[in-house]
Amino acid sequence: MDVLHHDPRRFRVRNFPQVLRARSDAEVRRATAAEPDMTYLFWECTRRCNLRCAHCGSSCEGRSPGHELSTQEVCDALDTIAEDFDASRIFVSITGGEPLVRKDLYQVVRHMTDLGMRSCIVSNGTLLGPEQAKALYDAGMRTASISIDGDRGSHEAVRGADTWHKSVQALRNARAAGFEVVEAITCVRPANLAELPSLEAVFKEAGANLWRLITIDKMGRAKDADAEIWLNPPQIRELLQFVADRRAQRRPGDVGVSFSCGGFLGLEVEGAVRQRHNQCGAGLTAASILHDGRVSACPSLPDSWAQGSIRERRFAEIWRDRFEKHRSFDWRREGSCGDCDWFGACLGGGLHERLVQPDDHCWLERIGCGVDTRA
Ligand SMILES: C[S@@+](CC[C@H](N)C(=O)[O-])C[C@H]1O[C@@H](n2cnc3c(N)ncnc32)[C@H](O)[C@@H]1O
Ligand code: SF4
Ligand code: SF4
Repeated sequence: MDVLHHDPRRFRVRNFPQVLRARSDAEVRRATAAEPDMTYLFWECTRRCNLRCAHCGSSCEGRSPGHELSTQEVCDALDTIAEDFDASRIFVSITGGEPLVRKDLYQVVRHMTDLGMRSCIVSNGTLLGPEQAKALYDAGMRTASISIDGDRGSHEAVRGADTWHKSVQALRNARAAGFEVVEAITCVRPANLAELPSLEAVFKEAGANLWRLITIDKMGRAKDADAEIWLNPPQIRELLQFVADRRAQRRPGDVGVSFSCGGFLGLEVEGAVRQRHNQCGAGLTAASILHDGRVSACPSLPDSWAQGSIRERRFAEIWRDRFEKHRSFDWRREGSCGDCDWFGACLGGGLHERLVQPDDHCWLERIGCGVDTRA
């Protein structure tokens, strides 16, 4: 796949099967909006963090802005979820803040496992020593995602001094503890773009079997960050080309590389850089319990899109009654999407991107249509 010289808006006859696939994926999204199926639950267990990353979309630091849920409150909410949904189909992604600053993490993970739920942790890795990894494994967790934003220099430029070795070591610790999925997550920016090939080797050596590449959303502290953290269209193409090449050339034992974002990348790029088209499931398959008990579709949505609290209402009732706008696509026809030929496949992009960066949410625009980067 030649992403660098591809025009994602153009349709060729050879793309016909991909058009059918994109339409059918959009139909599935519409059908799920009509009959939501919650299988992916984020638990933002805290907004406290031991780091203070320059690009943190949640603006985390040492103290939580709200009154965090107690162990009992979380476990009670999980009990109601297990009663109201099929727990064996629920995957809980524990995020933050930094999950490992919560002392009761192992106890809550054990509770999830006992209820039949699967879980993973999204962590900066600096607190994931061998004992912590083993304790999470013993509590039933099998997936660990560790954020590593470049080689040592570029990682520590945004995440702080003396963090890189600990985060890479966290991959090793998770692998040694027996985790089945050990994933690195990298926020790609101009400073680390050229480092991607060498990073892949580091992650492979440390035992990662997946690597998710994402771009930085304009939210939290990133909103006010220097312009040098944003990729321009040729750089986005370079990133997508890297992912497409690694996927096409993957051999047994290689790290599985994928690109992650909520929006539509165009027919050919979609299939080349990730498994599923246009993945945003906010309010359709995905929900979140935020640190203070509010319920949202995805932790990356603005706070104003939270829909009540488990401190006041049963989770399943909130999920059933309160996500009307998340499940409607008509309003997304506003603005630049109004006369877009791809709306039928895209449905207006990923929800959080649409809300947090309304002027810069369209991936076809961000990729830059028809830009010849060799020129
Ligand atoms: C908010 S962090 C919380 C978990 C943990 N503290 C960590 O850093 O992995 C969850 C994920 O969001 C990513 N992230 C942070 N700020 C972001 C932003 N502005 N845009 C996109 N992703 C961001 C992090 O790199 C991490 O992979
Ligand atoms: S990105 Fe993660 S590690 Fe960095 S400040 Fe935010 S919550 Fe903490
Ligand atoms: S303009 Fe809107 S509908 Fe069209 S591709 Fe971009 S985000 Fe999707």
